Amino acid sequence: ERSLLGLKDLSRSEIESILDRAAYWEAQQEKVTPVLSSRFVANMFFENSTRTRFSFEMAEKRLGAQVLNFAAAASSVEKGESIYDTVKTLESMGIDAGVIRLKPAGVLEELAGKISVPLINAGDGNNEHPTQALLDLFTMKKRFGTLQGLSVSIIGDISHSRVARSDLWALQKFGAEVKFCAPRNMAAPELEPYAKYVPMEEALKSDVVMMLRVQLERHEKGMQNSAEEYRAQYGLTVERASKLSKHTLIMHPAPVNRNVEIDDELVECEQSAIFKQMSNGVPVRMAVMERALK
Ligand code: CP
Repeated sequence: ERSLLGLKDLSRSEIESILDRAAYWEAQQEKVTPVLSSRFVANMFFENSTRTRFSFEMAEKRLGAQVLNFAAAASSVEKGESIYDTVKTLESMGIDAGVIRLKPAGVLEELAGKISVPLINAGDGNNEHPTQALLDLFTMKKRFGTLQGLSVSIIGDISHSRVARSDLWALQKFGAEVKFCAPRNMAAPELEPYAKYVPMEEALKSDVVMMLRVQLERHEKGMQNSAEEYRAQYGLTVERASKLSKHTLIMHPAPVNRNVEIDDELVECEQSAIFKQMSNGVPVRMAVMERALK
């Protein structure tokens, strides 16, 4: 039984085996294969989610697991109960694994040291979002056949992005080249040793162009650049997209701020994998839950 806290410390072969198993689950015709039918999983979201929350639930139910859904807003967290006491409470009741999303970075690691059931990171502040990066790698591998030598530009709000971090750590293990492009107030200086910051024009020459959501809710002083200014300088506009190589894959973890980091017309265009990423999240999370519980 294994936790998944991040990809920085996960080996390339462990990541490969999750991706291979995701391919297996993706190929299954049966909607439900009840390999986890006697296992109880709690999805504990202390921060809002649509994709991660529901694709974990889809994945768990497709494996026949018994699913408990916890939303902080409808719980005793509202009365001041701590994250630790909440998770310990569910553990005491007999859950076999917990999927957990937390706002403050680093709390998950501390929690994992005190909780004995496997914990799966569903988003840890701006630290890591490992299942998002796994589904991103799965999407890239399906499109290009290999990750080795792939150039991947991650564009936008790097400083607040757990997706950028998990993708960086994972892609580097596979010999892909990660480049960042960000306005000065959205850059993460501590990541400079690992990925070069390039201007927008250069970022758009990569095999994968991954746009990040501007995380308005995480900018303490509000957004310094207006949405229009941001779009003009760092957005994937229809005009910029028309100059992309035809083989370039457009990605975005979503939710999307349409017409801010990516134009409305591009979200479902032929080169976009945005909704494919969401579909791929289910088999990837099936592989992660099976690894945690079997
Ligand atoms: N990509 C992602 O994590 O989306 P949610 O916040 O909706 O889960």
